[in-house]
This record gives sequence, structure tokens and C-alpha cells, in this order.
Amino acid sequence: MDYTLFTAAIVFLTSGLCVGQNVLPPGPLTGAIGGRVKFTTTLSPPAKPFISVSWTFNRVNIITSTTVNITNADHKDRISLDRTTGSLELWNLGLRDQGEYRVSIIPDGALELQGAITLDVYVLLSAATINSSPATLIAGISSTNLTCEAAGNISCIQWIKDGLPLCPSNNIIFSADNRTVYLSPVQDIDNGEYECLVSNPVSNRTASHNLTVNFGPQNISVYGPIAAPTGYRVTLSCSADSIPPATFTWMFNRTETGVNNTLYVIERMEALHIGNYTCTATNNITGLKDSVVHKLRGSSAAPIWSFALMVTSVLAAGLLQL
Ligand SMILES: *[C@@H]1O[C@H](CO)[C@@H](O)[C@H](O)[C@H]1NC(C)=O
Ligand SMILES: *[C@@H]1O[C@H](CO)[C@@H](O)[C@H](O)[C@H]1NC(C)=O
Ligand SMILES: *[C@@H]1O[C@H](CO)[C@@H](O)[C@H](O)[C@H]1NC(C)=O
Ligand SMILES: *[C@@H]1O[C@H](CO)[C@@H](O)[C@H](O)[C@H]1NC(C)=O
Ligand SMILES: *[C@@H]1O[C@H](CO)[C@@H](O)[C@H](O)[C@H]1NC(C)=O
Ligand SMILES: *[C@@H]1O[C@H](CO)[C@@H](O)[C@H](O)[C@H]1NC(C)=O
Ligand SMILES: *[C@@H]1O[C@H](CO)[C@@H](O)[C@H](O)[C@H]1NC(C)=O
Ligand SMILES: *[C@@H]1O[C@H](CO)[C@@H](O)[C@H](O)[C@H]1NC(C)=O
Ligand SMILES: *[C@@H]1O[C@H](CO)[C@@H](O)[C@H](O)[C@H]1NC(C)=O
Ligand SMILES: *[C@@H]1O[C@H](CO)[C@@H](O)[C@H](O)[C@H]1NC(C)=O
Ligand SMILES: *[C@@H]1O[C@H](CO)[C@@H](O)[C@H](O)[C@H]1NC(C)=O
Repeated sequence: MDYTLFTAAIVFLTSGLCVGQNVLPPGPLTGAIGGRVKFTTTLSPPAKPFISVSWTFNRVNIITSTTVNITNADHKDRISLDRTTGSLELWNLGLRDQGEYRVSIIPDGALELQGAITLDVYVLLSAATINSSPATLIAGISSTNLTCEAAGNISCIQWIKDGLPLCPSNNIIFSADNRTVYLSPVQDIDNGEYECLVSNPVSNRTASHNLTVNFGPQNISVYGPIAAPTGYRVTLSCSADSIPPATFTWMFNRTETGVNNTLYVIERMEALHIGNYTCTATNNITGLKDSVVHKLRGSSAAPIWSFALMVTSVLAAGLLQL
């Protein structure tokens, strides 16, 4: 095929214009319902005024401005034409204004100029919400869906977890339109604040939802000395990762002590305190338990850190008395 003819055919197909170049920027132009848009031409005001400026919408006349102005009734009170550049402003936009706008300009002593652009009108987004089934979730067992809802033209939905973009993973899948996030099954690390950002070219909205996944107890451990001399105060502290927080019980040598606190305190270390301390953590939602054994020995000499512990507790006791 002849090269020039080929190029002409491409120009014709892509711009939909027969002559000259497009005096409007590449579209589409976006507007909000009730808002305004300006179709700005790429032209600067010529020395001699244009002979004619004519705008059409879906091939129907909006305004034809020669020595007189012929204006469409539906556009009469909501347009303003800049005769020097051919630019047109349109306000009080409605969905019916979506479509193709064309301009044709006849300069004084030059060839006709043309332009075409598409206008997309968007409904402003209403307040967004995240919907989720209200069921109690247990890590590794339950599944849930988070669905982002908003009225209006949604162009894009993005998900944020604890301030960072949420990424798909083994158990996190997005629907094709990003509207729904499937968490199957939920995991301990899925706890946190989820946000969905809904946007279109004219508005954006955010919704937030705190997801609670019950899990644990796990990573249970006891902190405290492994040996203590007679007369010392000994504190054993038990902790575990758990949602909701675990409740604790303590056994000494396989006998329940009745202590159900994170702390087990021996006011004055005696020989009879030597033995095995078992801390058991219980999660009343997951129904799971975990325990750990801490062996406490007697010792003749106070290790430096244990002495420091005693001094701290003496200081603390002193402060309490003040
Ligand atoms: C036609 O409209 C243009 C732009 O609003 C204005 O400048 C011009 O005076 C109008 N012409 C007549 C004849 O009303
Ligand atoms: C926005 O939604 C309306 C229907 O609610 C539709 O008619 C219109 O084409 C949509 N606009 C865009 C730009 O998708
Ligand atoms: C999540 O959505 C999918 C698809 O709509 C559905 O099959 C599944 O049952 C939903 N799961 C929950 C926990 O709601
Ligand atoms: C879905 O989310 C991803 C990541 O946030 C984003 O890159 C993509 O554009 C979104 N797709 C839609 C259709 O919103
Ligand atoms: C969301 O809209 C606000 C105005 O309502 C604007 O200031 C902000 O830049 C927009 N954010 C995004 C990401 O588009
Ligand atoms: C989620 O939790 C955070 C604190 O962790 C709180 O500031 C925020 O208001 C909560 N959001 C919702 C939607 O409950
Ligand atoms: C807690 O336990 C889980 C599984 O039991 C493990 O994956 C995680 O690394 C542990 N976390 C810490 C801080 O030890
Ligand atoms: C304490 O624990 C040790 C080893 O962990 C075990 O051999 C011993 O029998 C336990 N003693 C009691 C009274 O449970
Ligand atoms: C824990 O101990 C307190 C008193 O110290 C008691 O009132 C409570 O019932 C105990 N809870 C359990 C689960 O044993
Ligand atoms: C506890 O068990 C240890 C052995 O593990 C034993 O030496 C100690 O006498 C026991 N103490 C009591 C009070 O039963
Ligand atoms: C479960 O434990 C949590 C925290 O320990 C407590 O707030 C809640 O009332 C308990 N629920 C039941 C059903 O026992």
C-alpha cells in the first residue's frame, strides 16, 4: 500500500477526523454530575477573529457562532464560548452530557480546523463501607470476606492494611474488581485495620474495618530466675500470644496452686519452693491451651543479676511506702 495513503487511513481511523489535526487534547475529559468542564482548544487567539466557531454534541448543534449565534435550547443557559480560542465551557453536567464533542473552526484566511473529544460524566462516590460477616473468627479454621461498598461510578478500589497496601498471598485473594477480599482461612497475622480506597476521576472515599482473628495461645514462655537463694523474693512471669488474651493458671509439682495470674510470686524463697512451676495459658474462644514448665533451683550464692532484682524490688517496696 502507498505509504501516504496508509498514514492518512490511520489518521482517519484513530481521530475520526477527515481534515487537519485535532485542535483538542486527547480525551476523554472527565466531569462530575452537577459540575463543570472546559473544552480548551490548543489554539492561541489569532490576529483576525475566526469567521465561524461551531460545537456539536453527538453530532447535534450546541452553538454555531458566526455573525449570529445559533444555540441549542438544552445548552443555552449552561455554556460559555470563548470566541478568541474557540474553547467551550459547559456546566450543570448530567449523565446525558456524556458523549462526543466536536468543534469546527473557520479562521479568516486559512483552512478549517477541527477537533473531537469524549466527555465522561461520573457520579460522585457516596460514603464507603466495608461489609463483613459478623461471625467469630478462629485462626486456621474460619474464613471471611471483606466487601467494599460505595454508590457511584467506581473506577478503582485499593485495599490498605495497617497503613500499607494489602497484597494477595496464600490465604488472601482479591475478586477481579477488587471489591471483595477473601481471607481463607484467616490467620493470626490477619488481625488489624483494613481500609478500602474507592475512587473515580472526580471523587474518592475511604472505609475502615478492624478485623479480629482469635488465635493462640502460642509462644508461651516463663520469665524469671532459674535459681534463687533462701530469703529472696522470686517473681515468675508467664506470657503467651493470644487473642483474646489468655488466662493463666500455675501448678507446682503437678498440684494446682490456685494462682490464676500472669505473675507467680514467692515472697521468701525456701527449700520447699524448689521444684517445677507449670504455667498453662487458656484461650476461652479458641478453646486451646498451652503450657510450659519452669524449673526453679536453690542456690547458695546470689548471682549479680538476682541481687539486682532484689535491690529493685526493695526500692520498689520503699517507693510504695512513701
Ligand atoms: C455570540 O457568542 C459569543 C460568545 O458568547 C459572543 O462573544 C458574541 O457577542 C455573540 N454574538 C452575538 C451576535 O450575539
Ligand atoms: C456512571 O454510572 C451511570 C449509571 O449510574 C452510567 O450511566 C454512566 O455511564 C457511568 N459513567 C461512567 C463514566 O462510567
Ligand atoms: C465469600 O464469598 C464467596 C464468593 O461469593 C463465597 O463462596 C463464600 O462462601 C464467602 N465466604 C464467607 C465466609 O462469607
Ligand atoms: C486492584 O488492586 C490493585 C492493587 O491495589 C491495583 O493495582 C489494581 O489497579 C486494582 N484493580 C481494580 C480493577 O481496581
Ligand atoms: C481524594 O479526594 C480529596 C478531596 O475530596 C483530594 O484532596 C485527594 O487528593 C483525593 N485523593 C486521591 C488519592 O485521589
Ligand atoms: C480500629 O482500631 C483503631 C485502634 O487500634 C481505632 O483507632 C479505630 O478507630 C478502629 N476503627 C474502627 C473502624 O473501629
Ligand atoms: C509465635 O509462634 C508462631 C507459631 O507458633 C511462630 O510462627 C512465630 O514466629 C512465633 N513468634 C515469635 C515472636 O516467636
Ligand atoms: C520436674 O521436671 C523434671 C524434668 O523436667 C522431672 O524429671 C521431674 O519428675 C519433675 N518433678 C515433678 C515433681 O513433677
Ligand atoms: C481467678 O482468681 C480470682 C481470684 O483471685 C477468682 O475470683 C476467679 O474466679 C479465678 N478465675 C478462674 C478462671 O479461676
Ligand atoms: C517438687 O519436685 C522436686 C523434684 O522435681 C522435689 O525435689 C521437691 O521436693 C518437690 N517439692 C515439693 C514441695 O513437693
Ligand atoms: C474470655 O476471656 C476474655 C479475656 O480474658 C474475657 O474478656 C471474656 O469475657 C471471656 N469470655 C468468655 C465467654 O468467657
